[in-house]
Amino acid sequence: MSLDLAFALARRVNPRETSPNPRVGCVLVKDGRTVGQGVHHGYGKPHAEPVALQKAGARTRGAVAYVTMEPCAPFAGKRNPSCAEALIAAGVRKVVCATLDPNPKVAGRGLALLRRAGIKTSVQPDYAAAGALLNRGFFSVMRRRRPWVVLKTALSLDGKAAATNGKSRWVTGKPARNAVHALRAQYDAILVGAGTVLADNPALTSHGAGKNPLRVVLAGRRSLSKRAKVFDSSAPTVVYRKMALRAILKDLARRGVGTLLVEGGPTIHAAFLKAGLVDEAKVFLAPKLLSGSLDPNTAPRLKTPKVTKLGDDWLIEGAL
Ligand SMILES: NC(=O)c1ccc[n+]([C@@H]2O[C@H](COP(=O)([O-])OP(=O)(O)OC[C@H]3O[C@@H](n4cnc5c(N)ncnc54)[C@H](OP(=O)(O)O)[C@@H]3O)[C@@H](O)[C@H]2O)c1
Ligand SMILES: [Zn+2]
Repeated sequence: MSLDLAFALARRVNPRETSPNPRVGCVLVKDGRTVGQGVHHGYGKPHAEPVALQKAGARTRGAVAYVTMEPCAPFAGKRNPSCAEALIAAGVRKVVCATLDPNPKVAGRGLALLRRAGIKTSVQPDYAAAGALLNRGFFSVMRRRRPWVVLKTALSLDGKAAATNGKSRWVTGKPARNAVHALRAQYDAILVGAGTVLADNPALTSHGAGKNPLRVVLAGRRSLSKRAKVFDSSAPTVVYRKMALRAILKDLARRGVGTLLVEGGPTIHAAFLKAGLVDEAKVFLAPKLLSGSLDPNTAPRLKTPKVTKLGDDWLIEGAL
């Protein structure tokens, strides 16, 4: 269905580009043919609907618009015409969307405007979950006043995040680390605890894989050197002293952070899990055994690990 195409278009955009706005895709269909498509490419850039309308030109009249989220309605101070107004002016006959705008102040206003102009509207409940997932950060901030929180960790097979002396460079190999850099470029902010800054001195950047996220350090009572890499000029950094995690998340949402990658260490991960503030987890697993090792690079490793799925568990076995 054309809504699937609208989703596919929106998914191609890095959420960082549109943040704090949502990613939106729009497809215009007339007589069973796609006559226009558009996406919102970035904050401050045109919305998906006017892009699709422009592509379709005169073929827009009588078309059905499929949009991943309710078209926006006019609000005070907005310069461009709203998408609902643009769709009305272009003469579409029907608007089908996956979800309403989650902002309680505007939800339903775009569709109401369309209906008042005699345009049919439909919200597809089957697409509600996909619509919210497409813009996890935006929906989370609007509905819960906190970012969408993803816990990321790199572990050895025996469940260690670092060697016995606290060294965690490197638990995983180059491809996994590159994947982490690419991952960072998808998040508005990345968070670590003081223990991680002291042990690893990470820069917490995307290493050229895309925009750098805002860096967030939970320093607690520890003092950190101003020369730590996390305070270099490559991206802004926010430091919180001892503070409730919920209050920190609320403050981050206020700063425009929709998605947050929590990279550790174990103390921070435990605190987030205990507070029930984790929405998603990404665990990178290295075929090594770090227990009793001083250096992750020389720790014993499984030469040819064999992975078997046993119910919800995995057996990973192999000779050292
Ligand atoms: N393998 C991996 O994926 C990975 C990733 C990151 C780190 N690591 C490893 O993990 C180790 C470091 O972890 P860690 O558990 O020792 O330390 P950590 O989790 O990085 O940081 C803990 C610190 O955070 C502060 N903190 C906790 N909750 C806070 C809050 N609500 N507000 C403000 N500050 C808060 C605490 O301050 P107070 O002391 O004042 O309470 C504590 O000092 C290192 O060995 C590092 O190499 C591994
Ligand atoms: Zn719009």
